[in-house]
Amino acid sequence: MSLSYLIGQSTKFVWYSTHYLISFKYATPIKIDRQNPPPFFKKMPSGKKLFYEMIKLFNEERKYINQKKYKIPKTNVNDFANIFKGSFNFFMDLPKIDKRRTEKKFKDLNEKNKDLPKYFLRNFHYQTDGYLSENSANLYEFQVETLFSGSAATMRRFSLLPIIEYLENNDENLNFLDVGTGSGEFIKTIKYNFPKLNITCSDISKAYLEVAKKKLKKFNNINYKNCKGEDLPFENESFDIINSVYLFHEVPSAIRSKIFSEISRVLKKDGIFILTDSLQLGDNYILDPLLEFFPYSTHEPYYSKYIREDLVNAAEKFGLKMYYCKNAYLSKTLAFKKLNYF
Ligand SMILES: C[S@@+](CC[C@H](N)C(=O)[O-])C[C@H]1O[C@@H](n2cnc3c(N)ncnc32)[C@H](O)[C@@H]1O
Repeated sequence: MSLSYLIGQSTKFVWYSTHYLISFKYATPIKIDRQNPPPFFKKMPSGKKLFYEMIKLFNEERKYINQKKYKIPKTNVNDFANIFKGSFNFFMDLPKIDKRRTEKKFKDLNEKNKDLPKYFLRNFHYQTDGYLSENSANLYEFQVETLFSGSAATMRRFSLLPIIEYLENNDENLNFLDVGTGSGEFIKTIKYNFPKLNITCSDISKAYLEVAKKKLKKFNNINYKNCKGEDLPFENESFDIINSVYLFHEVPSAIRSKIFSEISRVLKKDGIFILTDSLQLGDNYILDPLLEFFPYSTHEPYYSKYIREDLVNAAEKFGLKMYYCKNAYLSKTLAFKKLNYF
């Protein structure tokens, strides 16, 4: 069990870190004022330290799998056709990203959809079409795994732990909402582990939700809702579990607060909200400089504020009490319970 996990993760690590290194070599270097560099720049963790932090992540997950907390993940490292297609598309897209990055062009979009908020209409990470096309959604998972050298899916799976604990005391036939589902990769993991959950996937991007729908077509009991996290079209107290991965750092602070408020409204009393997103400053001091560097290296307009925000306090204002917090390499998972008097 443990061996097949290690083989799968090592293969993923080698594959995606090779892509990372090639893209790093290819990309136009990021301009840093060498005379007057930002303070964090001198404290950047070495590759060796990063590797050690990643090994800690995989080792922790290996323990969960040995304890049979959840199923051994499907890494799909033998799906050669899709993997090579992903690699080809990734490299074909790189020059476009690099051009946008060097020209600092983050409003390079075809869609001028008036219904979408301004904060969202941009090329996050300088990615082609922002979050607004199926082409972007099809590239997304490969790009995220490359950014994290094959550890993205592992970091997301830390969302499973509070869900497992909650389901120990509850029937699995519950209503589960995912906010900012993206192209649906994590929902595959949820369905694989908890097939009876009634899942609603939601996302502001129609195109990403369409790709998620295609990816998840073999599963039952999944609904799709194209909507904003800050304006959820659901009745009060209609979900037992709500989950969100890598959405909160992508929105301005005021929208984050509205999303907390909406999540609290549609969550049942004693229901749980699981939030997996980037680490914040102070969570792991070795990685702090990397967090500060991230918005320097790419278009992440709301990230600097996100890494400094008191999420626990922001959630508590809306009756969501944090009861679980776990770092997972460059991410962390927080779980909140909806207070029954709110
Ligand atoms: C970084 S991706 C994360 C996707 C996925 N959850 C994952 O684990 O990779 C952010 C997603 O949030 C969506 N999004 C951004 N702002 C949103 C908002 N205000 N409401 C709902 N979804 C939003 C984007 O369209 C995108 O699919």
